[in-house]
This record gives sequence, C-alpha cells and structure tokens, in this order.
Amino acid sequence: MTHSERTGHAHPRRARDLAGGRDGLCCIRLREVIDKARVLIEALPYIKEFRGKTVVVKIGGAALDDAALRRRFAEDVVLLHWVGLQVIVVHGGGVQVSAMLDRLGLTAAFVDGMRVTDAAALEVVEMVLGGTLNKDLVRLVQQLGGRAVGLTGTDGGLARARRVERAPGGQDLGLVGEVEAVDRRVIDRLLPDFIPIVAPLAVDQDGQTLNVNADPFAAALAIALGAEKLVLLTDTEGVKDGGGALIPSLTAGEARRLRASGAVRGGMIPKLENALAALESGVHKVHIIDGRLEHALLLEIFTRAGVGTQFIESESETA
Ligand SMILES: Nc1ncnc2c1ncn2[C@@H]1O[C@H](COP(=O)(O)OP(=O)(O)OP(=O)(O)O)[C@@H](O)[C@H]1O
Ligand SMILES: [Mg+2]
Repeated sequence: MTHSERTGHAHPRRARDLAGGRDGLCCIRLREVIDKARVLIEALPYIKEFRGKTVVVKIGGAALDDAALRRRFAEDVVLLHWVGLQVIVVHGGGVQVSAMLDRLGLTAAFVDGMRVTDAAALEVVEMVLGGTLNKDLVRLVQQLGGRAVGLTGTDGGLARARRVERAPGGQDLGLVGEVEAVDRRVIDRLLPDFIPIVAPLAVDQDGQTLNVNADPFAAALAIALGAEKLVLLTDTEGVKDGGGALIPSLTAGEARRLRASGAVRGGMIPKLENALAALESGVHKVHIIDGRLEHALLLEIFTRAGVGTQFIESESETA
C-alpha cells in the first residue's frame, strides 16, 4: 500500500517530482493537479452555503437507465452527503416500468406525461419502482460509502395520496394518485445519518396503493421538508422553447406563458408545473438539468456553470 493510499493524502515527494520534472509532460501533470485543487476551492463557497441544508434530488427513469451514469449519480449523492448536505433522492422509472410491462406483454399508456395505471400495471410499478430500481440505487450508494435507506411513500406513512380519477382532458388515469399529505417524521429519523432513497408510491385513505408521478412526489417532499433546492434530473438538456432551444432560466410568469404556448409536452409538463408549485411554497431554487451529463448534479450545486434550466423569482435573481 502506498503512502497516499494509507493516509488519503498526496505524497509530498510526488508533487516535488512533478514540479522538478525534466520534460513538459510533468509540468502539464502538475498543472492538472493544481487545476483539481482549483475545482475544490471553487466549490468552497457552495459547500459553506449548502452545508446542513436539505436538497431533494429527483432522477428520472431515462437518466437512470445507463449503468455508468447511474454510478456517477450515486457518486455525486454520496459526495453531497459527506460534505454535509441532507440529500433525499426520489426516483422515477418510467422507462423501466414500460420495459417490464412490455416483457410481460402488457401495454403502457400515457396522458400528458402521466401513466395510465390499471391493476396489472400497478403491480409492475410497485415491483419495479419499489423493488429492483430502488434497491439498485441503495446498493450503489452503499457501495460508494454512503448509508442509504430505500423506501416508498407508504413506509412510515411518509406520503398519503388521493386518487386522481381523470387527467385534465377527462381521460381516466386508473390507479394514479397525487400526494395530499406528507408526514416527514420517517425522513427526520433517517437524516442526517442516512440517505433516503424514495420511490413515488403512496396509499390513499382506504389503503389503496397509488402510482404517483415522481416529479410532483419530489416537489411535495421538498415543500414538506422546507428544502433549499429541488433538482430534477431528466433525459434532456432542460426546458426547451418551441424552436427546441434550451431556456437557461425561467421566471414563474415566463414558465406559465411557455406552458400556455403548447411548447411543453409529455413528461415535461409535470416537471414545469411542480417546479412552479415548489417555488411558490418556499423551496428556494428549482433546477431541471440533464441527467445524461456526467456529474450533472455536482456541477449544478458546486460550480458557477449552471447546467439546464433554473427557475427564478424575478429577472434580477441569478445563481
Ligand atoms: N419543452 C420541452 N422541453 C424539454 N423536454 C420536453 C419538452 N416538451 C416535452 N419534453 C419531453 O419531456 C421528456 C422528459 O420527461 P420524462 O417523463 O420522459 O422523463 P423523466 O421525468 O426524467 O423520467 P421519469 O418519468 O421516469 O421520472 C423529455 O425527454 C422530452 O421528450
Ligand atoms: Mg416523467
């Protein structure tokens, strides 16, 4: 075992070797090492600002589908945890649920980005979201040195839902719910030692399990926990305008106009609407970012370079 492996610190002689190198290659390597230190220093004000604060991170099924990206995401979560943020992960899983339905010969149907869920689909949703996907994330975070606890909104009475009978257009959505109450005690018991990883299922008053879209679920948690930030990682650069161009920041008014223009469709509709709902209910910042970008979460929280779309209260507000 080398000195640096034993101590976790760079060997002092190694830096001298690099600095005193005979050729330019060593200088380049030294510069790389110094650049790494700069990156850490750049993160310092953000670490100070967010230490102890609560951040709800929602990762969509498409962003979770790639094993390498999933690992990068888990690394980011573990790092955020160890620098003192209270991270709660909520995950979607639309892609994986649809794939399993397909394997079982069942069909997936959507209305305005909300899954139509019959009894058979609900069984698959519970199996995939609360089962394989959730446990895979828990395992990854554990492997990387974080302590994760996987749960659904049903566990500890975290989320109670009411049934959404119909989409705004009048179509029947089946066993789909929206969160009507959050009991944060189970999360409070887990934080700050554990990283809660939550699948968006909840029961209604009659004990019926309901499938809840992960975006409003994450927003409801962020609101109930008084979160500093809600970050939604998805499979596109952020919110795009009618011409397909990324919109780096949106005020509430602009977001509403964009929604009314018809430029926002499918799975982006619940994201936009719940970003606004979270902001209105006291969550300070909401970001929709590209989960396909390696370490998108760290970049968003710890660097000046904003990735994706941020929701701001007025034109003058930045960061
Ligand atoms: N104006 C828009 N800007 C950006 N994406 C849009 C827009 N309108 C529609 N979309 C679609 O919304 C999709 C993202 O929502 P989707 O529900 O598919 O993913 P997710 O919410 O990240 O995953 P999951 O549903 O599994 O949680 C994008 O891939 C894009 O096709
Ligand atoms: Mg979605």
